Amino acid sequence: MNFVEQPATDQHTDLVIAIDGPSGSGKSSTARGVAQKLGLSYLDTGAMYRAITVAFLRSDLQASDAAGIAALADNAELTVTDDPEAPAISLDGEDVTFIIREPQISQHVSVVATNPHVREVLTDQMRALVEAADRRIVVEGRDITTVVWPDAQVRVLLVADAEARIARRQAELDGVDTAQVTDQVVRRDRDDATVSEFGTPAEGVHLVDSTHMGLAQVIDLICAMVPDDME
Ligand code: DC
Repeated sequence: MNFVEQPATDQHTDLVIAIDGPSGSGKSSTARGVAQKLGLSYLDTGAMYRAITVAFLRSDLQASDAAGIAALADNAELTVTDDPEAPAISLDGEDVTFIIREPQISQHVSVVATNPHVREVLTDQMRALVEAADRRIVVEGRDITTVVWPDAQVRVLLVADAEARIARRQAELDGVDTAQVTDQVVRRDRDDATVSEFGTPAEGVHLVDSTHMGLAQVIDLICAMVPDDME
């Protein structure tokens, strides 16, 4: 794994902000916005699972071949850019930042994300990325508050009603029909929930329901959770 480092700052107080939540909860926009506002790095862990899914779809492996999929994660070289202004990810030297958003990746990503060995390999890489950012980073995913970095200074579970999440994803994916978006949101949540518990907040995790909130409001709310001496 490689890491494109941002210029060093002179701040050394740990400030890891962990944001978990289901698809369409507004996690990515919120996490990027919080990172920009507080001058922190930004890590989208879902992008890492998606990049391995690109490798899976390019291979001739069957979805049932758990060992083969596990080996993909062992052999893939991921390079993550943690700039919230321009987050990017490369797979074996190829920039896959846009490919990972294609519908067939969203359709198949659960096959990769439910593989226990893939989760172990990527979790190690996520922790290394947090360290490389001097522990001043916003990390978003499904299991950041519980598994990847449970000691984060701010821990949030961001949720929204399924109807609101489907509507948001549909607005993002112009031209994709409602049935396909519903599959991506509802079915994927069900698959993902088999490996990470992100329906209810763990102890010490703030539950934020964004169903009736605007993006700026959610960003402000999370920034306000940061203790004054850590900014
Ligand atoms: O947030 P996203 O839709 O880009 O995530 C893509 C997939 O990766 C999703 O199906 C859940 C999975 N994922 C996960 O299992 N654990 C994470 N920390 C992040 C994402």
